[in-house]
Amino acid sequence: MSKVTVVGAGNVGATCANVLAHADLVRDVVLVDIKGDFAKGKALDSWQQAPIDYYSTRLTGTDNYEDTAGSDIVVITAGIPRKPGMSRDDLIATNAKIVSSVTTSIMKHSENPIIIVVSNPLDVMTYAAHKASGLDKSRVFGMAGILDTARYRAFLATELNVSPKDIQAMLLGGHGDTMVPLPRYTTVAGIPVTEMIDADKLNAIVERTKKGGGELVGLMGTSAWYAPGAAAAQMVGAILRDENRIFPCCSLLTGEYGLKDIFLGVPVKLGANGIEEVLELKLNEAEMALMNSSADHVKKVIEVYHSLS
Ligand code: LAC
Repeated sequence: MSKVTVVGAGNVGATCANVLAHADLVRDVVLVDIKGDFAKGKALDSWQQAPIDYYSTRLTGTDNYEDTAGSDIVVITAGIPRKPGMSRDDLIATNAKIVSSVTTSIMKHSENPIIIVVSNPLDVMTYAAHKASGLDKSRVFGMAGILDTARYRAFLATELNVSPKDIQAMLLGGHGDTMVPLPRYTTVAGIPVTEMIDADKLNAIVERTKKGGGELVGLMGTSAWYAPGAAAAQMVGAILRDENRIFPCCSLLTGEYGLKDIFLGVPVKLGANGIEEVLELKLNEAEMALMNSSADHVKKVIEVYHSLS
């Protein structure tokens, strides 16, 4: 009997709660938002979908953190999304305060939850939540890599006219334009992608992936929610089912890839205890250079975060 709290009843949080309910894995999903009636409305709408789509997960909405008591997993989506022309980093002043205070409120009512951060700028907000929670590094991590690889896989599926189901990929680095998709670790049903597509086309897809979030902000005037919400729900599912799935997630690094005291996207094994293991790939020089430049970018945003407090 597990309980999952989703903080933030905006588009990403509500989608995550709805996708989770459809998986019918959890007894309770609590949607918490400072706009309490809004959270109640979104949860009630999703609960009324249960007799149609056939799930038992109970969804409730609230503005009171007492209702989150005893959560096994908490997904934090709270904060403002970006508008056209903004980078994710422009959100830091507002969202750092929100994510830290949300984490403190969660920790008052749940003893040893697993926290998945979705708020942006993702790598630094995960860092902030980890600091505010006092939890072990295996229990606080961020959702970005599943979304970013999903975009990459979707673009490849369109280009190659194959099912996205058959595209496997890995990606490293920060959740921003410096992210590092890895063609060397991308396959189509086990066939190296480089055998199926010209280098120029592949490169264009890699570049489009890096700016994939911004493309959607440009189209919609706000940031995306279907794929981000579903990606966070997929992480919750892997933990609750203790699947040991390998996903790119934003994790604290303590020497892996030669990096320390930074949260960054790396392949991890996700199971019942959260991050069961960080996997270290044998990167070539070019890949390592891209990873280091992404880390340098995230470090600068961490400095901004420290200057705020
Ligand atoms: C995106 C936001 C959620 O990449 O960061 O769409």
